[in-house]
Amino acid sequence: MSASITVRVPAKVNVQLAVGGARPDGFHDLANVFLAVSLYDEVTVTPAHSLRITCSGPDAGQVPLDRTNLAARAAELLAARHGLRPDVHLHIAKDIPVAGGMAGGSADGAGALLACDALWGTGASRAELLDICAELGSDVPFSLVGGAALGTGRGEHLTPLEVGGTFHWVFAVADGGLSTPAVYREFDRLNAGTAVPAPEASQALLTALRTGDPTALADALANDLQPAALSLRPSLADTLAAGTAAGALAALVSGSGPTTAFLAKDADAAESVAKALLSSGTCRTARVASSPAEGATVVSR
Ligand code: C5P
Repeated sequence: MSASITVRVPAKVNVQLAVGGARPDGFHDLANVFLAVSLYDEVTVTPAHSLRITCSGPDAGQVPLDRTNLAARAAELLAARHGLRPDVHLHIAKDIPVAGGMAGGSADGAGALLACDALWGTGASRAELLDICAELGSDVPFSLVGGAALGTGRGEHLTPLEVGGTFHWVFAVADGGLSTPAVYREFDRLNAGTAVPAPEASQALLTALRTGDPTALADALANDLQPAALSLRPSLADTLAAGTAAGALAALVSGSGPTTAFLAKDADAAESVAKALLSSGTCRTARVASSPAEGATVVSR
């Protein structure tokens, strides 16, 4: 058995997030089209006397280092299923913006799970890993598989999707986070008294992904949580407007926000949108990335 294992895991953007009404369990049925993007966290696991977490990177100070971290919970769940003790040092080299909407916490959960499975030789099947991911959170299964996928149910049932080209993105990172449950509660408040239709994937969007056509994808991007995120954080409208004015093909809130995503026609356009966003004063930082990106992968052992 090797002394340590490192797994690389991508961030995601939701190119379509169709949200249904609240379910009796408090979750919402979704048609959630996930696309993995080339911003990555790396999770390294090393045997230790007891479970502990450390984190490095520009946003490290905002990452919880206790057992609420999904990486710790992943190690505990896998260990419990296999009669082991979760005695590992988990180090997260964090490059995914922490503000929210890019599944950085979910990425760390999926990464820790794959890394612990390799370190402990538990040999969990893909189905078992996906099961544990779904227990950790609605977005965690996608962090494991990457690429592009349609998530149904609360987002955890995945159908892989074909992507026919490379898409270029800019992500504007806001100051401070937005709580995902609060955004869903605001969605419920804004839709109170209306019959929310059952969520469905857009065929135009799936075709745009399959053909790799950024203009068609720009026309089809949709996020039902965007009005709720804007209601809780009205200043995000300024960020969206700044990216659009700088030539982005389309702009939207990423997931439950507050990170905003801008689709560009190519890599050069993405660089210039990022520069304009940085100097606009409407965000903390702006990052360029491309998609699709590979899911959680062991990169060193
Ligand atoms: O599954 P996860 O722990 O990431 O979900 C966080 C919160 O987001 C849930 O507690 C719920 O309030 C909300 N949520 C939801 N419907 C979903 C996914 C998440 O209402 N499909």
